Amino acid sequence: MISTRPIRSGNSSEAPVITPAEIGALARRIDRPIVLIGLMGVGKSTVGRKLADLLDTGFIDADEAIETAAQRSVSEIFEAHGEAYFRDGERRVIARLMAEGHGVIATGGGAFVDAETRAMILDHGVTVWIRATVETLVKRTGRRNSRPLLRDGDPQAILNRLADERDPLYRQAPIHVNSEEGPHHATALRILEGIERWL
Ligand code: S3P
Repeated sequence: MISTRPIRSGNSSEAPVITPAEIGALARRIDRPIVLIGLMGVGKSTVGRKLADLLDTGFIDADEAIETAAQRSVSEIFEAHGEAYFRDGERRVIARLMAEGHGVIATGGGAFVDAETRAMILDHGVTVWIRATVETLVKRTGRRNSRPLLRDGDPQAILNRLADERDPLYRQAPIHVNSEEGPHHATALRILEGIERWL
């Protein structure tokens, strides 16, 4: 029986102790893709790869799949066609990825804002919201200049606004995990703990 109560797993950066045998047993109980949502810079892709390694399953990054399908970078798609066009393609690519049976899917930060994409992820995935403070996100996103939404203004102000707008939606995920400083491996383990408690 699946509980609908949100699991806020591990508010510290400490990793829970889970044995490989327990991870194997958990992996066998997960019958849907694990879909990672959250703002730019929370570490969805890095944590997602670790999580897939731990579960011995496949990982796919939705932004990369969009870039492969479009043969253009996310920035080029935004520039040439605008955000609404990007969201439309993003919805179709995520629907395909969910149907393809990938173990772990990292989504772009805005994917879950689209009502149709959100319903699809909530209905057909194990949805995990990865969160971090805006201060941490500013530091992490400052390392690369690949995010079109952060180019037109002060990244801290933009991320604060996006957090205000999107957190009420992200909160609908059944599993919430913090990813502050500290190894991504620990975040991946806390996600496993959150899934275990939720399933
Ligand atoms: C976006 C997040 C990006 C990418 C695009 C838009 C957003 O993905 O999809 O730049 O709206 O938050 P990441 O969250 O992987 O950076």
